[in-house]
Amino acid sequence: METAHCNQLPISRNASASDLAESSEIGHYRVPSDSRVMVVGFGKKYQKKENFVIATARFVDPVLMPPPEIIQALKKRVGQLQMLRAVAQEALEIVKNPNCSIQEFTNVIKRDVKLGADILKMANSALYCPVTPILDLNRCVMRIGFRECQYLILSASVASLMHRVSMSQEWIRESLWRHSFTTALLATRLNRTFRLGFQGEEFTAGLLHDFGRILFAVVVPELFLKFDPLDFEETPELLDRELEATGTDHCHLGAWFTQGNQIPQPIPSVILNHHQPELAEEHQCLTALIAVADQLANDWERFGENMLAEFVPPSALSLLVNDENGQFETAFVEALPTLLDEAQRDAAAMMVV
Ligand SMILES: [Fe+2]
Ligand SMILES: [Fe+2]
Repeated sequence: METAHCNQLPISRNASASDLAESSEIGHYRVPSDSRVMVVGFGKKYQKKENFVIATARFVDPVLMPPPEIIQALKKRVGQLQMLRAVAQEALEIVKNPNCSIQEFTNVIKRDVKLGADILKMANSALYCPVTPILDLNRCVMRIGFRECQYLILSASVASLMHRVSMSQEWIRESLWRHSFTTALLATRLNRTFRLGFQGEEFTAGLLHDFGRILFAVVVPELFLKFDPLDFEETPELLDRELEATGTDHCHLGAWFTQGNQIPQPIPSVILNHHQPELAEEHQCLTALIAVADQLANDWERFGENMLAEFVPPSALSLLVNDENGQFETAFVEALPTLLDEAQRDAAAMMVV
């Protein structure tokens, strides 16, 4: 078979569906057109070419690879766990081009009516609180900007996934979902209050930080509550129990899955390091912000308003801002009651989005 080219990259080799399934190597592969290659954790793009399909395997860090049993269990739920629909993927590609026009971008999104509606709902929610309602996608891009729209697509897609994912017990989904929204909204409010400079990535990262726990609840439901009792204590012991029971933990699993499902950086990196932001080599400030929001969301679930009585600021706070004179910590503690109150209220409202 002669070498063909796609998007300037050579098709490096012929591959069977199972080769491709196991591959974490970036490149283009020829696979027979009748192959039903659908692999959780490895984003693939397909392009029909006469009698074969060109599939692009996305690089996924092999260090993150979960054990084969977990991969097998995920493959069975692949349809239900699809993170980005085709139109969302296309829109995210388009927006990378700095010369992309608003019309070009919105024309792509309009092909997926549900995605367009989800984006508008989120743009009109507590996340942005527009003074006048945003009624169409063009106005949405003009008001929010391309960069934030990229994260709006990701967040709307994740919220939609959380709606349709089914679990053996509904309260597990509700609990993880509420925790995700609360963390995302706390990260957003902290970002705005202290002008940390993020533009939507903090909300998406908060929404996805514990996606590995959602995956565990879906694929190993019989074990899940034994290692993760959902008691809002995300201590190192939780990660140890996950590792012992499944061979991986929710940080590695979530990072692997999102990386393979076209979720762009910095999100997979934040997911990987959100329990140890001090180890983050890249995106450390965003990782620290999510770690702070995560701890606040957990403390709130465990203690409610009592958490403020003997409050100890999260250790990740020191990675967020250079705070030699302690002014930031003082302002943080002062702002906390309002931030927690608003995030709780907004999370309840947004969970119906
Ligand atoms: Fe976590
Ligand atoms: Fe968490």
